[in-house]
Amino acid sequence: MDGKQAAGRRAADEIKDGMTIGLGTGSTVYYFLEALAKKVANGFKMTGVATSQKTIDLANEWKIPMHALNDVAKIDVTVDGADEVDSKLNGIKGGGGALLYEKLVAKASARRIWIVDASKKVEQLGAFPLPVEVVPFGWKHVHAYLSEKGYRPELRYAADGQPYVTDAHHYILDLHLQSIANAESLANELDHLTGVVEHGLFLGMTEKVIIGYPDGHTETL
Ligand code: 5RP
Repeated sequence: MDGKQAAGRRAADEIKDGMTIGLGTGSTVYYFLEALAKKVANGFKMTGVATSQKTIDLANEWKIPMHALNDVAKIDVTVDGADEVDSKLNGIKGGGGALLYEKLVAKASARRIWIVDASKKVEQLGAFPLPVEVVPFGWKHVHAYLSEKGYRPELRYAADGQPYVTDAHHYILDLHLQSIANAESLANELDHLTGVVEHGLFLGMTEKVIIGYPDGHTETL
């Protein structure tokens, strides 16, 4: 077992019969979906709302009942991963490129739980490159602006050498900031930048973080 598996399995204990559940994206969420699929196979009733095509594909494979975000009035709880989380439960997400749909699903949720291994816990956010989702039209100008600000943006590429394209057909600029002294002010700046669709700063957007350890035990923040 690794920490991601321990956290994913533990999060499945939080799910009650009849819930509508936001399903995050990533390798930690994989273990949560695996545990959820077992519950469903045993007759558990639930509806999932996915945050990415990857998660839809896994959910379909494992016969987890799904609805689109537009087809549900509310989500009881969303379980998602994170790339970094600090002691105030602020985080960076979007390493897997699903930040826009993850934020939309998180905002539609009554409760949010993040599942991570211990490597994701940080004193200060920013060592992990901050994903910024941008519209492809004119992206080089947004890149130039972010460069001038000293944010060291890099266009994300897919394995085939082409720019990485999100599920919503946008590009991602990863900001190599090393550390973020004032996450609120950076989030505010990015929120107001034309061409930026969304960014990976998730501030005040989770109520609980489950940290998993390789020996199988978990800790809750
Ligand atoms: C995807 C995300 C993921 O939750 C984040 O990248 C963590 O992924 P993993 O569980 O694979 O480490 O934000 O956009």
